[in-house]
Amino acid sequence: MAGALGFHVSKTEIPVALMSGTKQTFRKASAIRCAANIPKKRYTIAVLPGDGVGNEVIPVAVDALRLAASLEGLDLSFEELPIGGVALDLVGVPLPEETLTRAKQSDALLLGAVGWPKWDNNPKHLKPITALLQLRAGLQVFANLRPITVLPQLVDSTYLRKDTAEGVDLLIIRELTGGIYNALPRGFTTNEQGDEVGFCTESYSASEVDHIARVAFDIAKQRRGKLCSVDKATVLEGSMLWRKRVTAMASEYPEVEVSHLLIDTAAMDLVRHPRQFDTILTGVMFGDILSDLAAMIPGSVGLLPSAALGDSGPGIFEPVHGSAPKHYGKDTVNPMAAVLSAAMLLRYGLKEENAANRIEKAVSDVLDRGFRTRDIHTPGTTLVGCKRMGEEILRSLDARVSASIGSLA
Ligand code: IPM
Ligand code: MG
Repeated sequence: MAGALGFHVSKTEIPVALMSGTKQTFRKASAIRCAANIPKKRYTIAVLPGDGVGNEVIPVAVDALRLAASLEGLDLSFEELPIGGVALDLVGVPLPEETLTRAKQSDALLLGAVGWPKWDNNPKHLKPITALLQLRAGLQVFANLRPITVLPQLVDSTYLRKDTAEGVDLLIIRELTGGIYNALPRGFTTNEQGDEVGFCTESYSASEVDHIARVAFDIAKQRRGKLCSVDKATVLEGSMLWRKRVTAMASEYPEVEVSHLLIDTAAMDLVRHPRQFDTILTGVMFGDILSDLAAMIPGSVGLLPSAALGDSGPGIFEPVHGSAPKHYGKDTVNPMAAVLSAAMLLRYGLKEENAANRIEKAVSDVLDRGFRTRDIHTPGTTLVGCKRMGEEILRSLDARVSASIGSLA
């Protein structure tokens, strides 16, 4: 079907370009399952691979998602939507209206990455990453969940000392639709001296802080009951209010132990003693920086999944890494961040915990079997590319996939 904006949208099928080399295999595997299980629940997933390596990792994640879901008797349909540079090429804007409309109608979004050097000099409203900000605003996904765990199999991949990284299991909860990224006023002007000025506003309202803090307290309560709020309350007014509101909310959660750290100290402590952290609550910019920093604890941003959630409506599930122009087209990137984002989609987006667990178990199993992409490769493990890693994940999800993958190799 041709959409109003002229790009092709398919209601039920992932276009061929989006499917990895495991398409054939996957069909066989799902056919086996369909005979055994009658699908119970149906969901529509909006798939937005975007630019660069998004087009390598998302097909792998879609395959894993579909297989894990079918093993739980779920029926997923996938609709590919253009975003970022792809959309700029197609219709001249980074987030087509139709993409946002259809995304809103879906049950969850699986997103790759946006951005490509070709558009770096575009004005802001025509940059690929603007699509991401518009999508987050359009779906009102104010809560960004970024878990960082060091799986025992990957302890050798850390950039820190092994005994520092071992056992880390933390969750960064980042406010996503307010703060310095979004607040007004912002823009460019010329000052009295005739100097050009670029400016934006670091502001948080009480209700914005309460909104995200409530999410963080509720989650911390279900984890190890430790919440560390990160701000710059010594300097920034937005942070002063942030700290005041978080402190006030703490009395509603006696079971949660609350601490406050300044962003600079938090950055230092994250590499010095990361195991002290359980749940970290912070604003949009500090969360952006801390999550990339924290990626070096397990050793690769290619391992980090994320979820962006609102009060209602579909969430956005995406790897934390970007479009990685330097790595695109080489079949070397790690699809695990995307695959683990698919697990978060099942858990937080569809409330299908069992299917989510299947994916996480499969990722762990592939690591047990010694497969590693370039970013996490260490002596004594088997170096594989993105596609092969995807095939191994399918194999770990369902042993019956093995035979058909074998016949493709
Ligand atoms: C992220 C990214 C984005 C952000 C950019 C691409 C706008 O760095 O999701 O971490 O800063 O939110
Ligand atoms: Mg970032």
